[in-house]
Amino acid sequence: MAAKLLTLLIMILSLGLQTVNAYVDSMSLGGNLFLVNRDYAISSDYVPNDLTKPNVPGGGEATMLRAEAAQALEKMFAAAKEEEGFALVAISGYRSYGQQSAIHQRKVQSVGKKSALRVSAPPGCSEHQLGLAMDLGCKGSMSLTSKFGQTPEGIWVAENCHRFGFIIRYKAEWEEITGYTYEPWHIRYVGEEHAARIHALDIPFEYYVAQLRLAQAELAGKGE
Ligand code: DAL
Ligand code: ZN
Repeated sequence: MAAKLLTLLIMILSLGLQTVNAYVDSMSLGGNLFLVNRDYAISSDYVPNDLTKPNVPGGGEATMLRAEAAQALEKMFAAAKEEEGFALVAISGYRSYGQQSAIHQRKVQSVGKKSALRVSAPPGCSEHQLGLAMDLGCKGSMSLTSKFGQTPEGIWVAENCHRFGFIIRYKAEWEEITGYTYEPWHIRYVGEEHAARIHALDIPFEYYVAQLRLAQAELAGKGE
């Protein structure tokens, strides 16, 4: 716990308070920094208003994203192809509350509630409902297993997705914080500036958002 607090403090200092005001709006629902997890659920009727299908290889309607994230995904896929010859595949993007509910129920039935909660978000608790998350695959790794993280494509995604505004959301070492086991295939859009910071700090999104909130509170206390 002491180590976590120290990390948080170092992060706050490294951020620089003056830069924080601009992020307040983007942390509200509709912004790229909106935090969704089992502690912060979204309402069943939230549907992003700018869903669009990115023009990338993969599955049709199942791969919708919010417009800005869709454009960023297209750029990332193009870079993977141009720089390395990699053919990434989009597997699952936006999922409605009802779709997430059905997926989660199926998982509960197959592995039991406790195990299901480590791999599948209950309805209202999935970033996929924000339209800002995409599950990726590649030839030879299309079934969303940790194997993707060892493929050249998965390694490239982990090292480069921040250049396009995405982060790896569920790293193995963050399971206690995020609540989910390793998902190398799940990328979350936060925008290029935040993704670069999160990548450099190498911290879970929960910590990054906490850091911003603390810095905001500090600013408010100073009357700025
Ligand atoms: N597999 C991730 C945690 C989700 O269901 O959103
Ligand atoms: Zn996912």
